[in-house]
Amino acid sequence: MTDAKHHPSTLAAQGLGWVDDATRAISPPLHMSSTYLRDVDNGYRSGREYIRSDNPAFDQPEALLCALEEGAGAALFASGMAAATCAFLALGKGHVIAPKVMYWGLRKWLLEWSPDIDLVDMRDLDALKRAMRPDTKLVWAETPSNPTWEITDLAAVAEIAHAGGARLAVDSTCATPVLTQPLALGADVVMHSATKYLNGHSDLIAGALVTRKDDEYWQRVLALRSQLGGVLGSFEAWLLLRGMRTLFPRVRTACANAQTLAERLSSHPAVVEVLYPGLTSSPGHAIAARQMKGGFGGMLSIRVKGGEQGAIGTAAQVKLWKRATSLGGVESLIEHRASVEGAGSPCPPDLLRLSAGIEDVEDLAADLEQALG
Ligand SMILES: Cc1ncc(COP(=O)(O)O)c(C=O)c1O
Repeated sequence: MTDAKHHPSTLAAQGLGWVDDATRAISPPLHMSSTYLRDVDNGYRSGREYIRSDNPAFDQPEALLCALEEGAGAALFASGMAAATCAFLALGKGHVIAPKVMYWGLRKWLLEWSPDIDLVDMRDLDALKRAMRPDTKLVWAETPSNPTWEITDLAAVAEIAHAGGARLAVDSTCATPVLTQPLALGADVVMHSATKYLNGHSDLIAGALVTRKDDEYWQRVLALRSQLGGVLGSFEAWLLLRGMRTLFPRVRTACANAQTLAERLSSHPAVVEVLYPGLTSSPGHAIAARQMKGGFGGMLSIRVKGGEQGAIGTAAQVKLWKRATSLGGVESLIEHRASVEGAGSPCPPDLLRLSAGIEDVEDLAADLEQALG
């Protein structure tokens, strides 16, 4: 077993060092059973009744994520959206605040389904203070935020949320536990689309929540996960653990590649602007340097000359980068983001979103440079 004095990268590489009791296997067995044997006295001494609430395939990946985020509990979900929506639904009625710039799918759901929501610029702390109301239950933040990679000062936002009696939840999908621990900065809940970096291989969909306290709210989250049924499958949980074991080297390589690409593209004549918090010229750089350890993430965006058609035309020319949505996989992806987000999105039309993978950065740079022409 690994223990608390080991570094997070060691905990991840060994999946906390768990060994299967029955076989001494160092990789966990794949538990596929949907139900568990009841004892003759009608009890369930195994502690498990039915897969919708008790899946042993979740134990190790949830324990590992909880250790990496330094939380009191973690819960896997069928997708990032299942995790995020559960975090809101568990609040019951009340006012919520979310960022103007955030994952578009969740913003769309919030605007369609949450009757009482305000969207604010999370970089503007006075605007957040003004938006707080006595019945505000939750402040949602995402940092770096899709698709312009704005940085939110989590410690400052946590203070404002707590002063107003609200919780702070953070979508930390793009920061990953390698770079940021939102709970240590004051957040109450962390959310991940585990589809992205946690898994890292673009071959499953999964989500997760991690809590700072095992309180009444967290118990409602767990109950809702089971009641709504948005649970992960056993094989996906197994694959996710396998992916998490290489999280640190994957994220570190992606960060180094993104940093190099951001610096090189900044001086490219066809690039109007590079959006990446690792650039010293980026408005969020100072906060990111304080809040993120060891890198600024694998995500960056470029705004290219020629507007929307210039951006779509550039994406059409890549040969190595893959034109696809999503992010956080080992392969590099490029996407004309406004085409995905549609009307009402704050995404500029000339923006290409880049998810840097772990390929050789010279190959990635050369492909982009030839595509930019
Ligand atoms: C930052 C972020 N949060 C949440 C989600 C939603 O996750 P999922 O696709 O796993 O439901 C995504 C998906 O793209 C994302 O990029």
